[in-house]
Amino acid sequence: MSFMKLWTGRFSKQTDSVTDDFNSSISFDSRMVREDIAGSIAHAAMLANQGIISQNDAKAIQSGLSDILADIESGKILIDMKSEDIHTFIESELTARIGDAGKRLHTGRSRNDQVALDLRLYIKNLVVPLRRQICDLIAVLCEMAEKHASTVMPGYTHLQRAQPITFGHHLMAYTEMFLRDIGRLDDATKRMDVSPLGSGALASTTYPLDRDAVAHSLGLSGVTHNSLDGVSDRDFAIEMAAAMSLVMVHLSRFSEEIILWSSWEFRFIELDDAFSTGSSIMPQKKNPDIAELVRGKSGRVFGDLMALLTVMKGLPLAYNKDMQEDKEALFDAFDTVSMCLTAFIPMIKTMRVLPQNMRAAAASGFINATDCADYLVGKGLPFRDAYKITGSLVALCIEMGLTLETLPLNQYRRLCGLFDEDIYDAISLDECVNKRCVYGGPAPGNVLMQVRRVREILKSCR
Ligand code: ARG
Repeated sequence: MSFMKLWTGRFSKQTDSVTDDFNSSISFDSRMVREDIAGSIAHAAMLANQGIISQNDAKAIQSGLSDILADIESGKILIDMKSEDIHTFIESELTARIGDAGKRLHTGRSRNDQVALDLRLYIKNLVVPLRRQICDLIAVLCEMAEKHASTVMPGYTHLQRAQPITFGHHLMAYTEMFLRDIGRLDDATKRMDVSPLGSGALASTTYPLDRDAVAHSLGLSGVTHNSLDGVSDRDFAIEMAAAMSLVMVHLSRFSEEIILWSSWEFRFIELDDAFSTGSSIMPQKKNPDIAELVRGKSGRVFGDLMALLTVMKGLPLAYNKDMQEDKEALFDAFDTVSMCLTAFIPMIKTMRVLPQNMRAAAASGFINATDCADYLVGKGLPFRDAYKITGSLVALCIEMGLTLETLPLNQYRRLCGLFDEDIYDAISLDECVNKRCVYGGPAPGNVLMQVRRVREILKSCR
């Protein structure tokens, strides 16, 4: 059976079923049914207000479309997957129900500006729950950071123990990333918050449309300014995919740390059984599959971004059918990020933090060496000299199987006469962390300040 089409008339024979199958987008664009109907209701109301169609026709269109939506939502009718796309299905269904008035709906409109509108409206709606999920994650991180404001752990560079930080500080680093992600989603949303209706197929229309009225009634902040650009711009889709790719970059870095931390080598955290998996052969295994999948799914979302960039690259103005490929990539990106967050948030929320293991790791990697050098600087030595002496002390400790905490004072003094009993206080882990109280630092007081700041931002974000 041939597909339901809006463009019969010019053709002398039926399209091949392969053409129909290949051309059809209803299997994925039916997701935009609500937005398609909302756009059509706004368009029809404007047509009537401009005297282009009668008020009676507009009323019939509006109630016809509302009924169709209600029937779809209640399951009374199914979207006909034999339609070419969602626009075709809705218009055909409307005309079947209300007759000629339905045929007047598409006056001064093309599917090219229609789909550009639908996609914008649909994404605008999708961003809302996604943003909320990111906010939820940030809130969970704040809660944990508050609890672990003074939990000492090693900070790393090159994945080598570097300097002592607090677990709360580490968690709050991620809140900064996720806040920027929200900012990027918001920026992209602002730019795409315009109506392309009135662009027509590419060259606008001869009807006296009131484009602003349509935009206003759809809750959009304005209209596009060039009809060619209005139908052929998909920057907004790419921007959204890019913003979501960065969410995945951050989630995947976090996932990688969760995977490391939950290993026997680190043992900084233990994932809850409810958010771990086992092995079919190794009875002892408890695997961080959620974190691994999130890390892996980042590849999917980057792929979606790449697909969108590649589809748009080199396309001549204005609309080209290539652009139908935008939806699957974009929807997949949204679905994937949202699914990742749905699993990631409770995994983080329920994980058990093991502060004693974090502290033990911090105590055995010379991560207070910088503080030892800073101690000598405090006694008047230039930093470079202090650095060198401390380096020799570390080498001595390694040779003697000791740490800076356990190295006897006489050994310190052999290398530099400026060392005194107070060196042991200066290099104690708590002291090392407490002293790092410069703005943005890991000291417990700073972490609590960061938590307060981020919570304040969250309030206005939600
Ligand atoms: N399904 C099409 C898409 O998603 C709708 C626009 C069709 N326009 C056209 N000229 N064939 O891009």
